[in-house]
Amino acid sequence: MRQWQLESGKLTLSVAPDPVPGPGEVLVRLDAWALNYRDLMILRGEYGTPKLSPLVPLSDAAGEVVATGPGTDGFKVGARVMPCFLQRWIQGPIRPEHYGSDLGFGLPGTLCELRIFPTASLTPVPPHLSPAEAATLPCAGVTAFNALRWLQPGQTVLTLGTGGVSIFALQLAKALGARVIITSRSDEKLAWARALGADHGINYHTTPEWDKEVLSLCGGANLVVETGGAKTFQQSLNALAAGGTLALLGRLTGITQGVNVQPLVYKAATLRGIYVGSRDDLAELAAFMTRHNLKPVVDQRVRFDEAARAFQALAAGPFGKVVITA
Ligand SMILES: NC(=O)c1ccc[n+]([C@@H]2O[C@H](COP(=O)([O-])OP(=O)(O)OC[C@H]3O[C@@H](n4cnc5c(N)ncnc54)[C@H](OP(=O)(O)O)[C@@H]3O)[C@@H](O)[C@H]2O)c1
Repeated sequence: MRQWQLESGKLTLSVAPDPVPGPGEVLVRLDAWALNYRDLMILRGEYGTPKLSPLVPLSDAAGEVVATGPGTDGFKVGARVMPCFLQRWIQGPIRPEHYGSDLGFGLPGTLCELRIFPTASLTPVPPHLSPAEAATLPCAGVTAFNALRWLQPGQTVLTLGTGGVSIFALQLAKALGARVIITSRSDEKLAWARALGADHGINYHTTPEWDKEVLSLCGGANLVVETGGAKTFQQSLNALAAGGTLALLGRLTGITQGVNVQPLVYKAATLRGIYVGSRDDLAELAAFMTRHNLKPVVDQRVRFDEAARAFQALAAGPFGKVVITA
């Protein structure tokens, strides 16, 4: 089987023996792989030093079971599956032993044609989704889903940019009956976001004081999906309504530091850190997508043999997801 490997910032295509599943494991032929901003950071050396070198990159993929090991009764050859992001985080809250089991950094990733997974880490693909669509769920989808937990119909969500997590947040929030304000550097992308149901779009280049714009539109967002980090956090806090929640998950503009957290106090607001989610969260998202007939937005598709081009597409700032297909 073929696999992509990352070493010293360089991606190379190599050939490896087909793996054989052991007890409790299945062999999956992967048909589609999705990129996340984290994968770009790992490629650029901005995510810390991986313990594994060379490293098979990427966390997200979807495929079909082609062989089963002993003790995998619930899994049949032909089943369509996707792996969870942190392979050891199956259910409940995150615990110390779950760390380091993230695909594509702590563990070898998914950008290969065949890969073994423990059955506990797999979730069935929603029947209405193609492999390319399903591959986008494990990281970006679950992260947005968890950011939106406890959102109530009629509340207002502010989500930043039109990348993978943010477009998931838009789609999921609309399905939950919320009002959505989204920001982008591009009026064209804002028009696409409106077509997906966004109630308001703010161009953060032409309206640099977008926090004030949010306040004037609705008096403040009940939930902010904070994908930006250093250069957006303070404004996100300003744009938050009293009693609101800021779901802190991203660092598109660097790691947040040296901010004035006083608005959190007088707004009696909640700051929630989000780290993707568990296998059960992925299964819950899959059920939600099925119930609401939601399809992820795949902006660009790149063939497996041209995978390096997918990283360039991500760096250019996609609307939704960049996916590699077999
Ligand atoms: N904590 C977690 O569990 C978790 C999980 C997933 C992702 N993340 C993080 O969340 C962030 C988003 O990830 P992603 O995979 O969705 O990224 P992505 O798909 O690469 O998103 C890129 C988009 O971000 C937007 N952007 C860039 N600078 C911005 C700014 N100053 N203000 C607002 N938007 C800006 C751009 O949108 P426009 O072109 O429309 O301006 C760009 O298209 C990343 O920092 C990633 O590491 C964290």
